Amino acid sequence: MAGGGPVVVTGGAGFIGSTLADALVAEGRRVHIVDDLSSGHLHNVPPEATLHEADIRDFDAVRGIVESAGALTIFHLAAQADVRRAIADPAFDADVNIRGTLSVLEAAHHAGARVVFAATGGGSYGEYPGLPIPTPETAEPRPLSHYGQSKLAGEGYCGLYGRLHGVPTVRLRLGNVYGPRQDPHGEAGVVAIFSGRLIDGASMTVFGDGLQTRDYVYVDDVVDAFLRAGAGTPHQTLNIGTGRETSVLDLVRILGGGDPAFEPPRPGELQRSCLDASLAAGVLGWRPRTSVEDGLPRTLASVRAARGD
Ligand SMILES: NC(=O)c1ccc[n+]([C@@H]2O[C@H](COP(=O)([O-])OP(=O)(O)OC[C@H]3O[C@@H](n4cnc5c(N)ncnc54)[C@H](O)[C@@H]3O)[C@@H](O)[C@H]2O)c1
Repeated sequence: MAGGGPVVVTGGAGFIGSTLADALVAEGRRVHIVDDLSSGHLHNVPPEATLHEADIRDFDAVRGIVESAGALTIFHLAAQADVRRAIADPAFDADVNIRGTLSVLEAAHHAGARVVFAATGGGSYGEYPGLPIPTPETAEPRPLSHYGQSKLAGEGYCGLYGRLHGVPTVRLRLGNVYGPRQDPHGEAGVVAIFSGRLIDGASMTVFGDGLQTRDYVYVDDVVDAFLRAGAGTPHQTLNIGTGRETSVLDLVRILGGGDPAFEPPRPGELQRSCLDASLAAGVLGWRPRTSVEDGLPRTLASVRAARGD
């Protein structure tokens, strides 16, 4: 596919945002990235894209960038995405994830643009008795972290801008995204940590019994969902996950990690998290194509290559 108008990708120097930027460049789109490089990297930015080094909380800067780019689609991925940092500094987390999202929505409103927002599934649904697993979008979100709550607030503002100003928004509630370029701090950070340990020849550390599960979704599949959502779907909240639970012990086994070392469970950690993405299948025609058996070895190989091993 080639052509299409210019787009803005916030967080386009980060793990998911830069993979999305690569795909948009490959489609022949003009890509403008807004990123303050706080957790992203210059080397992730595709050379064909224009990097605007700016903070999403700077309303005037974001509005100016979107308007001068002539972008009618904004993929909003910039965030404070570190759950532990959010607990340590909740005001900073709220500032970036709520005020930053508000700034992006203001810019979209003034430019007449649509927004595709990177929301979180596991982080926002939380875990409580009666929560269906796999979890559909109709389940009540009850976050258990500041991060899950601030991302949910961002979704709330997306809804508001739709009702108040008619800004079309799609909120993609992502599972635990893994793949090349991920770092240890994101929601699927354990994959990067285990990969590093394996390459170092060290044993993997499992907190608790290792039976806690997550919905690990491969980054290329997530990018495919963003591209589909950016093509014109209005006003939707959609889960983007595999519907399959993978435990920490499964990760160790698939990566070939040998016997792990066990440590006491970490307080506040979810026991189970898994998303029902059948709505995205119906609305976007999206389905995950990469199993953990394929995606994990690819991720490990990319970590090895990045370290020159
Ligand atoms: N990785 C996951 O498993 C996962 C799961 C659910 C949702 N998400 C969401 O997807 C998005 C991307 O996540 P990621 O894993 O690629 O994280 P990441 O940290 O790699 O990317 C975030 C990017 O945003 C930039 N950024 C942070 N604060 C900024 C600010 N104030 N102004 C401008 N840029 C700023 C960072 O420099 C970085 O490049 C985030 O919104 C995150 O909440 C990620």
